Amino acid sequence: MLSPLSAPKPPKRMENNYDVIVVGELNVDLILNHISTFPQIGKEVLARDMQMTLGSSSAIFASNLSTLGAKVLFKGATGNDMFGDFVISELSERGVDTSAIVRNRQLKTGATVAINIEDDRAMVTHPGAMEHYSAEDVDVALLSRAKHLHISSVFLQPALKHNLLTLLSKAKSCNLTTSLDTQWDPAEKWELDLPNVLPLVDVFLPNEAEIKCLTHQPTVESALNQIGRYANTVVVKLGVHGSISYYKGTPNNIPPFLNNAVVDAIGAGDSFNAGFIYRYLSGAPINDCQRFGNVMGALSTTAPGGTGAFTSRAAIMKKAKDHFNYTENDVKR
Ligand SMILES: Nc1ncnc2c1ncn2[C@@H]1O[C@H](COP(=O)(O)OP(=O)(O)OP(=O)(O)O)[C@@H](O)[C@H]1O
Ligand SMILES: [Mg+2]
Repeated sequence: MLSPLSAPKPPKRMENNYDVIVVGELNVDLILNHISTFPQIGKEVLARDMQMTLGSSSAIFASNLSTLGAKVLFKGATGNDMFGDFVISELSERGVDTSAIVRNRQLKTGATVAINIEDDRAMVTHPGAMEHYSAEDVDVALLSRAKHLHISSVFLQPALKHNLLTLLSKAKSCNLTTSLDTQWDPAEKWELDLPNVLPLVDVFLPNEAEIKCLTHQPTVESALNQIGRYANTVVVKLGVHGSISYYKGTPNNIPPFLNNAVVDAIGAGDSFNAGFIYRYLSGAPINDCQRFGNVMGALSTTAPGGTGAFTSRAAIMKKAKDHFNYTENDVKR
């Protein structure tokens, strides 16, 4: 249990082990940029720029967290195809341990086509192998080798969602801290057993629309009041309004490091999560984690895709200073 202003319990330390195990989905993103107008059925528009990048919330989180300096192991599934090779090579290049990723010969690696218009986008996803990954192979022996478990995109992964309580309970029995970002529910059913799930989640990381849908509440405030009865730390990402954290009735709103020249907003939330959890692992106070999350989210909007701005730790910190006047000891406590 964490208070917004006090340091969380320091994660346990073991040698030669992982800081974070990420359990989640893997896919490529084909990003279409510089489009004058949204395409209509039966018509065609031109995209003046195009990129194929590492997609998926979980992979962007893992990649950026690893680039920041954490030791990260990824658990998930791809097809045994070119997109799978691409995803694994991108993660490996950023230092993520991919040795435990399952290659499914029967299924395709997931892919998302993203159509960017200004700072928002429309997306179509073929889930492929991710839909069938249940995380049953994430056992106590593996969890015991890490300090923290992060789970993302449960609505895209029905088999994983089915096992969510078991997985979180296992992590807790191994004394890991945990975080969860549900991401959007494409079916818009929003069926998640929050009163049983959230007590097992140390940091819950939805965005504004997601927390309102998950709780069936009209405002972030009423949503926070509702889940605040049983949740630990909740951090809501508010896009250009920064983020709000909430613990036991105390909200803490932290303004963004505004970027007025957004390249695209893909992965801003995952980059926020990476920054937040990176600081959280070091035992930093929640408002420091939140501020670092905000700057990582802002940084993500300065380059294409979710990992474009995260080439090396030195480059990240230089860009944070140059673009947003943020230095690592720039912490308001
Ligand atoms: N235009 C922007 N300028 C500066 N910071 C931004 C901007 N957009 C987002 N951010 C930062 O990034 C964080 C996360 O962004 P956002 O709220 O869009 O998350 P999200 O909706 O979960 O994103 P995703 O689609 O990646 O899951 C915000 O809390 C904010 O701090
Ligand atoms: Mg998000």
